[in-house]
Amino acid sequence: MKNRTGAASLALLLTACSGHMRSVGADAMHGDGSRGRSVYLERCAACHGAEARGTRLGPSLHALAPSWNQRRIFAAIEEPEAPMPKLYPSQLTRRDLADVAAYIDGVAADK
Ligand code: HEC
Repeated sequence: MKNRTGAASLALLLTACSGHMRSVGADAMHGDGSRGRSVYLERCAACHGAEARGTRLGPSLHALAPSWNQRRIFAAIEEPEAPMPKLYPSQLTRRDLADVAAYIDGVAADK
């Protein structure tokens, strides 16, 4: 009986967690790519180019490895590797991050 209760509450916990994950995921990983495009043009295009094909200041974003899903792109903007500047949180909101990650994900898929 004790065991059963344990299993039931574990199941409940897991359900609660996955529900939570889903809502976090929805925020962070399903940004609005068309809004992301305006964020991109405003904040990123100077270095990565208007069509994200790169400039001498930043690489093309059309050839990201397939493992670069929105989550990975989000992380690369949130905690960028130098010389890519850290724009979050001073210049980008979390919504900007999610939206621009969605936009880049679309760009990267469309080689
Ligand atoms: C001041 C120039 C500059 C700006 C502004 C900039 N980036 Fe970058 N970005 C870079 C450089 C340089 C790199 C390469 C860093 C490295 O060598 O790992 C880079 C790397 C990246 C990468 C990883 C690409 C890869 O193949 O490793 C992504 C994704 C990215 N930038 C997206 C963005 C987005 C989205 C924005 C706007 C929110 C942005 N960048 C703004 C210069 C910039």
